[in-house]
Amino acid sequence: MNAPYSIPVKGITNIGQWISWNPDSHKMEVREGGTWLINEGKFVEYLPQSFSDSGFLDAKGRLLTPGLVDSHTHPAFATTREDEFEMRATGMSYQEIAKAGGGIRNSVRKLREISEADLSDLIFGRLRLMMEHGTTTVECKSGYGLSTESELKSLRAIHSASNRLPIRTLSTFLGAHEVPDEFQDNKTGYINLLIHEMIPKVAGDNLADFCDVFCEEGVFTVGETRKILEVAQAHGLELKFHADEFISTGGAELAAGIQALSADHLMAISEEGIRALAISDTVATLLPGTTFFLGTGTWAPARKMLESGVTLALATDFNPGSNMSLSMSFIMTLAVIYLKMTSLEAFQAATYGGAKALGLSDNTGAIAVGYTADAVIWSAFNYKQVPYYYGINQVAETVIQGNCILKRQ
Ligand code: NIG
Ligand code: FE
Repeated sequence: MNAPYSIPVKGITNIGQWISWNPDSHKMEVREGGTWLINEGKFVEYLPQSFSDSGFLDAKGRLLTPGLVDSHTHPAFATTREDEFEMRATGMSYQEIAKAGGGIRNSVRKLREISEADLSDLIFGRLRLMMEHGTTTVECKSGYGLSTESELKSLRAIHSASNRLPIRTLSTFLGAHEVPDEFQDNKTGYINLLIHEMIPKVAGDNLADFCDVFCEEGVFTVGETRKILEVAQAHGLELKFHADEFISTGGAELAAGIQALSADHLMAISEEGIRALAISDTVATLLPGTTFFLGTGTWAPARKMLESGVTLALATDFNPGSNMSLSMSFIMTLAVIYLKMTSLEAFQAATYGGAKALGLSDNTGAIAVGYTADAVIWSAFNYKQVPYYYGINQVAETVIQGNCILKRQ
């Protein structure tokens, strides 16, 4: 499969409106016009005038935003699960399908059969689509292997796919995504395998930046999650995990307590969970695409979290079971409609918030001096048009580390 071309640019000129988190004022700002100069993959200076030199990327008076940061995805899967999608339409719930042997364990059976090279090609195609939709940094989880061999295969496939593309990829070990078929009557045995074999190997081979656990009723309890994550932390992995997705089990409180980078999903977060996150550095990563796609109607209480001072990230949760969309702009649309976030809050969460959830907010997620030159030029003329005009791709150019990756008119 071909990689997209990549052309270095001296800067972005003829900017119309531009928005960014300002690392000095700690606020999102909306500005107009001018040029951002780029050198060695970083933004170096803002000038109020425009240039006609062909080394510049011409924004043609349109909207410029930071590159989108998708801080929660599951792209390492072998086959899609459209049959389950239809089963939900006829009344079965996500949990009922999982209990009947579908769900994550369905994906696991397929992933164990695919070769590493074929999996890498599938991930490559998915990452390329993400770039076309304006994502410049993405977190990718394993979690459909659930054996040492297949988890390592997934992580290696993520690395080899991302090495063929400019998109910046961080990887997460999610061996604790489910209890696999062969350990259904021996969960303790599987936790021991995670702790004594998988985590040391993943960390030893430098295959992951983060460790994740699906902390949920019927999957891993808060106590089990803590045990697994503490081992991962001792092996040098940073922590971020699926918490309080369907049932409030105290996942958010645990995330704050163990200083996880983020607690993700949180549709069922408790008042105490919100308070715990508000006084911590842990980001709340909201994934409204999952509520939408599962049709549950239970949205994370974003406004309450914002009012309590919790930092929010928005991400897709792209995966074959609970959200088959990798469009961050569609997620922003959902955030405005259902989470009652403003368009500017949605952009903040999709750029700065995502970068913070990945521990990168010192150099990624903003158009500011010294920050990585990741950006999107949109066909839109102002930021409110992006979540407003949904169901189409309004990305005109994606810029990653000062290289223009797409060129659409
Ligand atoms: O984030 N919640 C757990 N994991 C995924 C779903 C994975 C799947 O159904 O394949 C999620 O929603
Ligand atoms: Fe997820």
